[in-house]
Amino acid sequence: MNQQTFEAVDKYIADLFLPPDDSLDAAEQSLEKAGMPAISVSPNQGKFLHLLALTCNANKILELGTLAGYSTIWMARALKEGGKLISLEVDEKHAAVARENLQRAGVGNKAEVRVGKAIEILPQLVQNNEGPFDMIFIDADKPPYTEYFEWALKLSRPGTLIIADNVIRDGKVLNEDSDDEMVKGVQRFNKALAASTAVTASIIQTVGVKEYDGMALAIVK
Ligand SMILES: C[S@@+](CC[C@H](N)C(=O)[O-])C[C@H]1O[C@@H](n2cnc3c(N)ncnc32)[C@H](O)[C@@H]1O
Repeated sequence: MNQQTFEAVDKYIADLFLPPDDSLDAAEQSLEKAGMPAISVSPNQGKFLHLLALTCNANKILELGTLAGYSTIWMARALKEGGKLISLEVDEKHAAVARENLQRAGVGNKAEVRVGKAIEILPQLVQNNEGPFDMIFIDADKPPYTEYFEWALKLSRPGTLIIADNVIRDGKVLNEDSDDEMVKGVQRFNKALAASTAVTASIIQTVGVKEYDGMALAIVK
């Protein structure tokens, strides 16, 4: 097995389960046009997030890290009637591109992008009683993942699903001596998640068109 096989199988799954979708394609293409990094979740991962949101019967979703709103569109499409998604994004330009994509996809009325550092907006969400959320997707900068998880717990109820992306990092999490800040961030998070008595959690490894990585899944007790 190699990356070529993983990509071919990813495409096989996408061809089977993902019909052409102009809004999602436009969101992905907007990255290149705006000179933004191509670091959205993959199409099959987007569908997976959509399925998770449906499984949660989600009415309120929180996302950390919007980029161009690709994952946001997938999750917002799973919201119940009257549902709401709040996505936090530090970069004003990313937020502007995402808002356009959300409008084009017809979810602009239920998905809101808030601009600022997630670590500063999260306490405001708590203070303003904007929780609890049914599903929380952590996909912003990696060093503060542990702190994001702690805030996510404050914005949860029993049964909330917390998901954190990119927690395996091409297997680099195995290197205890890594000096990569992103690796160190997710190592610290993975340990904190495993030790937390507030959740039942695990990590699934992910392969495909994106680099070899992993997603942590946790249900709040
Ligand atoms: C991996 S991308 C998000 C991808 C998006 N969830 C998707 O799959 O379509 C990470 C995003 O987090 C944003 N970000 C980085 N640091 C942040 C912070 N401190 N607070 C909020 N957003 C941040 C970046 O600007 C970037 O747009």
